[in-house]
Amino acid sequence: MKMTDLIAQKRDGGVLSTEEIQWMIQGFTEGSIPDYQMSAMCMAILLKGMDDREVLDLTTAMVNSGEVLDLSPIEGIKADKHSTGGVGDKTSLVLCPMVAACGLKIAKMSGRGLGHTGGTIDKLESFPGFSTELTEEQFFENVNRHGIAIMGQTADLAPADKKLYALRDVTGTVPSIPLIVSSIMSKKLASGSDVIVLDVKCGDGAFMKTLEGAEELADNLTRIGRLAGKKCAALITDMDQPLGWTVGNALEVKEALAVLRGEDPEGDLMLLCMSLGSLLLMEAGYADSYGEADAILREAVESGRALDKLAELVKAQGGDERAVYDPELLPRAPVTCEVPSTETGYVSRIHAEAVGLVSMGLGGGRAKKEDPIDPAVGVVLHKKLGDAVTKGESLATLHAASEDSAAEAAEKLRQCFEFSAVPVEKPPFIKKIL
Ligand code: URA
Repeated sequence: MKMTDLIAQKRDGGVLSTEEIQWMIQGFTEGSIPDYQMSAMCMAILLKGMDDREVLDLTTAMVNSGEVLDLSPIEGIKADKHSTGGVGDKTSLVLCPMVAACGLKIAKMSGRGLGHTGGTIDKLESFPGFSTELTEEQFFENVNRHGIAIMGQTADLAPADKKLYALRDVTGTVPSIPLIVSSIMSKKLASGSDVIVLDVKCGDGAFMKTLEGAEELADNLTRIGRLAGKKCAALITDMDQPLGWTVGNALEVKEALAVLRGEDPEGDLMLLCMSLGSLLLMEAGYADSYGEADAILREAVESGRALDKLAELVKAQGGDERAVYDPELLPRAPVTCEVPSTETGYVSRIHAEAVGLVSMGLGGGRAKKEDPIDPAVGVVLHKKLGDAVTKGESLATLHAASEDSAAEAAEKLRQCFEFSAVPVEKPPFIKKIL
């Protein structure tokens, strides 16, 4: 086989065979196919697309480029969740203990944050002592014993995707549905769970800015997941403002703890966790309807079992579980500063991505993979889209490491808000269920 032939074939709208896709991904991973040829192929795929069989073959080839976790030593149904990434997204901190408290097994690999979006691993590390560096044996043992374990993604999980994503990032080929789907699903399939729910974010702070784009992505993700033999469902949710009230690692943990205590039951975070949790319970056969799933999840929260499950996870991974019941033990920033509104009216926009960048500028996120982060800093919002506000009222509280960084962030945060003199309708949070 010659890579130049395959590139020309795709460029001219042709279809690649299973063997051709396997050969190409193997060659690219091993280094026999150079970056410039793979870049040309990515651009041809972006322009000409792929059919479902090709996307499934590409996904499978990327799964087989590295280690595939065999979760069969874990008894029961293994569930996983993926979010396409947003600002203030602390969903896993609430959802995972919630469904684990209902009997589903959570054997989850998570990532760190980069840029304006955060990562579950960084948030969990706000618990003093918490470690996500588990051996495979510890990981399995913890899931069997506690029903839940969360570890950092190993380097050997879908290595072809890591290499390909880095190439796409510098060649203008990230926004291709077949490439995004194979990238996301290769990591999910290699992680070995039986049931997968996908939270596809849509809006200003998301990877997919429009509902049409998010629908196309969600539809393709679930279809390929099902073709690969998984139980799979997806939600499309709003990311035109940050999720919940906080952005920043320890602050997000505090909010997740409050939601697990049953506070803010009508908030978007709880709504999202109940919806994703219901889809997981139904796909796993633990509930026949939303009503039934909702009741099971509510009982787990109201009885305190979901919060206790998080404490069990934190303790099992070396963290101080007392902080689950006493959030004052979590890292706290030395400086706090209010950001007053300059107008009276209604909040008409909160630029989610820009809020994420404010938190990053305070030290809560990374510009580069190797940057350290400050778990204590970030933003607590007091107003969300559609809320009435009077001039001088606080829009948000900043948590900062110094007066200087707080002052700089305050100016930037003020610019994240827009106002209207007339009432603004609150946007629906859940846009679609697939
Ligand atoms: N997230 C991924 O993991 N891969 C993509 O291609 C895009 C978003």
